[in-house]
Parts: sequence; structure tokens; C-alpha cells
Amino acid sequence: MGFDKTSPYSKSPSEKGIPSEKGKQGEVLLNIQNLSAQIGECPILKGISLTVREGEVHAIMGPNGSGKSTLSKVLAGHPSYDVTGGTVDFKGKNLLTMAPDERSIEGLFLAFQYPQEISGVTILNFLRTALNARRAEPISAVDFRKLLQRKMDLLGMDKGFASRFVNDGFSGGEKKRNEVLQLAVLEPSLAVLDETDSGLDIDALRVVSSGVNAIREERCGAPAVILITHYNRILDYIKPDFVHVLSDGRIISSGGPALARELEEKGYDWIIPKPD
Ligand SMILES: Nc1ncnc2c1ncn2[C@@H]1O[C@H](COP(=O)(O)OP(=O)(O)OP(=O)(O)O)[C@@H](O)[C@H]1O
Ligand SMILES: [Mg+2]
Repeated sequence: MGFDKTSPYSKSPSEKGIPSEKGKQGEVLLNIQNLSAQIGECPILKGISLTVREGEVHAIMGPNGSGKSTLSKVLAGHPSYDVTGGTVDFKGKNLLTMAPDERSIEGLFLAFQYPQEISGVTILNFLRTALNARRAEPISAVDFRKLLQRKMDLLGMDKGFASRFVNDGFSGGEKKRNEVLQLAVLEPSLAVLDETDSGLDIDALRVVSSGVNAIREERCGAPAVILITHYNRILDYIKPDFVHVLSDGRIISSGGPALARELEEKGYDWIIPKPD
């Protein structure tokens, strides 16, 4: 069975009329229509449509290599990927013509699946510089230390981390926690979390998820979240309004939290269309 632009699966749940569990109807933050992208000559995203409104949590699941991280990197403006079709509006503006830093300042945040190590730059300086880039008045060193401490407490991070180089020598779980610390400090309107749960032990998963929930409660549901994951476990903590399945660069199914539970039980075989 093939999929084309007119496939019902290429429509977002809102367009398909799947009601949000929490009945939210916030403003549209992100509107992706029929997005295609390739790396070199190799097409990876093959017509993705997805609408995310303020306050919503969208989980994206799907087999390895289906294009989940590619979607997140294309949204963030990674230079290795060429957008070959479709549109992406963020807060009503064309996201695709913005430079990566403009996307970030506009309020889009990406927590990487594989965070980079930046030797020589402390977490404190990195985050203060990033925060000041989006403020009219720079925050004072004293105020920033207080803010950072509050956010680190929220995520159960020892204050010694602030003076360590970004991700340098961090364990897998510490890197993921540091990604969420960036989210906590920068206060984006939309956060894409790419497998933030992988590498976290059970206790860390609970702390980090509660941290994300606390941030969202504090900011009246912001950021909206696109949560890429392989496991239902994190969805028990950060409850999705919608779950989408990505396969071979296309959204092949969308539903509510029950879909994630079904995938965990049955795997992907039953849902992935067989070639003609
Ligand atoms: N820089 C690159 N060069 C070549 N191929 C790439 C590159 N980036 C992605 N791809 C290919 O694109 C496809 C999608 O990769 P992507 O990382 O988006 O998958 P994913 O769904 O995030 O998988 P996973 O669940 O394993 O993280 C894969 O076949 C991958 O090999
Ligand atoms: Mg990935």
C-alpha cells in the first residue's frame, strides 16, 4: 500500500478530527504541511503534515531510521538537510527561511538525541550567553546564578555541574538532564525532545519528567512539546495529547495515548503498510 499527498495519514490529528484528551484548543504554534527533506540525494522525509497548538504534547514514535531525528533537525535548521517540499509555519512565520539561531530566539527548542560536548565552555557561561541572546537587557551574573540554581534544583542536578564544560565527560543520563536544563532556562514556546528518556535511569526519568511538567505548569502549559520516544514509559509521566507513528519518512498513523500502549504491546509490524 502506497502513501501519497492525499493519504489521510498525512493529515494531523486536529485535521482528522481526533479530539484532544484535554480538549485544548490553543493557538496554532507549529504548522507543518507536506514537508519533504533529503540528505545528499537520499529522500528521508516524504510528506509530513503536523499541527501543534499551544499547550499540546505530541509524541512521535516509529522504528529506527524512520526519520524522527531528521524531522527534529530539519525544524531546527540543520544545514546538512535540504528541504525539497512543503511548508513550516511557526507562530505564523515561515520557519524555513529563518537561520537556526533565529528559530531558537523565536521560541523553538531542540533537545538532541546525541548532545554535543563543548569543551572549554562552562554550562553557566553557555546558558547565560544563550539567555542573553534573547533578552533586551542582559541578566546580571548574580541573578543568573540564582535562576540557574532554581532550575538545577528542579531537575535534581548538583550545583557543581554549572562550572563543568558542556557535556564534557558527562554520563549519557547527565547529558540528557543537561538538555532539559537548557529548556528550563531558555523557556521556549515549543520544545522538541528527541529521545530525552534514553539513557535516563528510572529515578532520573521520574525527576526529569516531573521537572518538565513543573516547568509547563509554571508557564501555563508552555512549552508545547514534541516528544520523540521509543518507550511508553516516559508517556506515563509526560502525558501526550496525540501519538503519531513515523515510518519511512511519513506519519502513517495518529491517535491518542492508547496507540502508544498498543505499539508497546504489538510492535510496529501490524501498523506499517506492506509494499504493493
Ligand atoms: N547525515 C546523514 N547522512 C546519511 N544518512 C543520514 C544522515 N542523517 C540521517 N540519515 C539517514 O536517514 C534515515 C533517518 O534517520 P533518523 O536519524 O532521522 O532516524 P530516527 O527515526 O531518528 O531513528 P532512531 O530511532 O534510530 O533514532 C536513516 O536511514 C539515516 O541513516
Ligand atoms: Mg533518532
